[in-house]
Amino acid sequence: MTRSLLSIAELPDSDLRSLLSRSLHFFSNPAPTHKPLAGKTISLLFYENSTRTRISFENAVRALGGQPQSLAIGASSVQKGETLADTALNLVALGASGFVLRHGVAGAARIVQRTVSCPVINAGDGLHAHPSQALLDASTLLAEWNRDPAVAVPMEGKSVLILGDIRHSRVARSNMELLPRLGAKVYISGPGTLLPSPEELTSFSGIERVDFPDRLLPEVDAVMGLRLQTERQTRGFIPSLAEYRKFWGLTVERTERLKPSTMILHPGPANPGVEIDLQAMHDPRSRILEQVKMGVAARMSILEWCFGGEK
Ligand code: CP
Repeated sequence: MTRSLLSIAELPDSDLRSLLSRSLHFFSNPAPTHKPLAGKTISLLFYENSTRTRISFENAVRALGGQPQSLAIGASSVQKGETLADTALNLVALGASGFVLRHGVAGAARIVQRTVSCPVINAGDGLHAHPSQALLDASTLLAEWNRDPAVAVPMEGKSVLILGDIRHSRVARSNMELLPRLGAKVYISGPGTLLPSPEELTSFSGIERVDFPDRLLPEVDAVMGLRLQTERQTRGFIPSLAEYRKFWGLTVERTERLKPSTMILHPGPANPGVEIDLQAMHDPRSRILEQVKMGVAARMSILEWCFGGEK
């Protein structure tokens, strides 16, 4: 059976727990001797820009013995009008054993998965999903809280506040699917224009919408800031950046109200001074760079799950 990772929602619970366990394992053991990707070329197709996801997938492929092959989309025949499906088929003909795809259109990874017979990993598709980011975020939380993903409710008693532009965030959607499955209480807060519609919110369970975040600050166990995604905003969603920061920014004043143990997270890239202050990014409670390091381990776990199975 060919395994692809397109969204958290499609992952059976046993596979989700196994991916998280292996992610924590690879975080402690970044150079495994077992090389399930030996002899395989993994094609990285990034139709949208990326630093963390692309480089960490490249590193993860190499750590498991494979060869990453990043197509420079801007210099490729995509610019001559070649379709996504034809691009994928041609890369298989040239030896690709699997794909890591980032694309601006929701459902793009599904198109590739239906076109080829090898594994496809969604590295972010439009507003829809960014499952590897949610897996690395959950792994970062579990590592910090010293919780075992194999137990029934590993995030029991823990709460996470996701703050900001949730409407345009595939990271938020994937975390809203994942964290409640592990038992975390998840709050979302942002301007009404930047929250999912009430209809969409009914498709998530265990999520509570809070208009203003301040009353939650002294009690939550983690706060996740989100980039204001101006590239996906089709109209004015906020009166001004100053007002956005004043009411929903992860400012120094807000971090002063967090518990000493509360983790500050952000998937990156950040707009310092807009959704998060530079000082908050470098606060001792910030785990933003730990998230980035966990990204390689989480992606090794995903690649192993897709291609090789554990040993
Ligand atoms: N978090 C994230 O997806 O970062 P990049 O866009 O740099 O990959």
